[in-house]
Amino acid sequence: MSKTLILYTTKSGVTKDIAYQINKNLTTEATIMSLKDLDDDVFFSCDTIVLGAPIYMGYIRKPMRKFVIKHMDILLQKNVFLYVVGVDTHIDLDKYLSMSYPQALLLHARLIKHLGGEFRAENQSLLSRFIVNKIKEEFSKERELEEKINIDMIKNFASNILQNEKTEV
Ligand SMILES: Cc1cc2nc3c(=O)[nH]c(=O)nc-3n(C[C@H](O)[C@H](O)[C@H](O)COP(=O)(O)O)c2cc1C
Repeated sequence: MSKTLILYTTKSGVTKDIAYQINKNLTTEATIMSLKDLDDDVFFSCDTIVLGAPIYMGYIRKPMRKFVIKHMDILLQKNVFLYVVGVDTHIDLDKYLSMSYPQALLLHARLIKHLGGEFRAENQSLLSRFIVNKIKEEFSKERELEEKINIDMIKNFASNILQNEKTEV
């Protein structure tokens, strides 16, 4: 039986919520874990690993970047699915990801998707709120920010993981 781990890092909780949404759409239950509570045994024993991380100031959040670099050899032996969270859904995802993740991981990943994002002010510092307002101002000159997670994309992402599990049995 294929074992799936959904490993995420989050600052304001959106990437965690998406991890649970993905799990809801899988038929076999995955283990969901925050990077800060990483259990090596669970990580080593899974065949499929889903890595979820938000974009801050143009980069994937640092704990995930560090994790990936540290564990590249092991990740290359697993089925890897990557999801990205952020409010700018019009980015050139390949370009952004190549600034944060090693090319070998991007080539190895079975699927890479941007699943939307939300600004959540409650857990943000004053500086973060200031930056968010600046980002919003910049955006409003060109287009509306979507600011929501994409449920259809999440379902589609989960169905790809399911498909992979079926072919692995
Ligand atoms: C200080 C700050 C900088 C951000 N920079 C970006 C960015 O460069 N690109 C983007 O798409 N979203 C950016 N965002 C939006 C976050 O990616 C979004 O709020 C995401 O849902 C946060 O996920 P989390 O709750 O899992 O941390 C930024 C948010 C903050 C607060």
